[in-house]
Amino acid sequence: MHHIDESVSHQTVIPAMTVQPSDSRPPAPSSPDIAQVRLKGMRGKRGVVGDSLHWLGVRLGIAYNGSFYYPSEDRSILECSIFPHYQLSREHQRIVFVGTAWYTHGYTRMFSRKTYTTMDPNPANAAYGAEQHIVDVVGNLERHTAPGSVDVIFLNGVVGWGLNTRDEAETAFAACYRCLRKGGHFLIGWNDLPEHRPFRIEEVESLGKFQRLVFPPLATSEYLIDNEWRHTFSFFCK
Ligand SMILES: C[S@@+](CC[C@H](N)C(=O)[O-])C[C@H]1O[C@@H](n2cnc3c(N)ncnc32)[C@H](O)[C@@H]1O
Repeated sequence: MHHIDESVSHQTVIPAMTVQPSDSRPPAPSSPDIAQVRLKGMRGKRGVVGDSLHWLGVRLGIAYNGSFYYPSEDRSILECSIFPHYQLSREHQRIVFVGTAWYTHGYTRMFSRKTYTTMDPNPANAAYGAEQHIVDVVGNLERHTAPGSVDVIFLNGVVGWGLNTRDEAETAFAACYRCLRKGGHFLIGWNDLPEHRPFRIEEVESLGKFQRLVFPPLATSEYLIDNEWRHTFSFFCK
């Protein structure tokens, strides 16, 4: 695990583009070793029976007030370092979390003292969202949220996981910018892997409106977890 030097990360331009927007299949891991490590750490990807039992377990758990978490280092950083900062911050009350999944269900409870809204275009994922859940793409955030009304937007694991074209990202980042209040925070979590990096976020013009934010608990504006997911947290501020 290491920090990216901010001055370097600004200049890095890697032209890798292997995800085709028209290809709806999930991209394959770049090597069998990586696939193996991911599979070991993953729940819910163990074949038809394992998947069904996992789904049943999640449904029952959620119905009986349980929550599930994904065991990876980037989740630990998100849940144990990034979230607590906002849970305890008085300046950050209105939070939007984009993209819901079985392992984000518990985030609703983590932010139960905040005005916490979730968003996902897939209606089936509403089950993992907050009471205030929006079924839509992040590019349409303004249809549901007043301009300048949000303190923090988390866009974690969405770029390269559905939000796959630069045009869509232009619209999405611009919508986030308008919905955030001045000084509001914007976190993009993305995987620095060819199969999940359809474009470089720095290439998206609407991101240029934001300023880089040095996130206090991590003392950097970009934090890479150098494992099989190469998950990277990039922090911005309006
Ligand atoms: C890998 S999951 C990530 C979930 C979660 N945000 C996280 O922290 O891991 C990707 C989710 O993003 C959603 N998604 C894909 N494209 C989106 C878009 N344009 N706007 C909002 N959500 C999107 C998908 O439906 C899916 O549920």
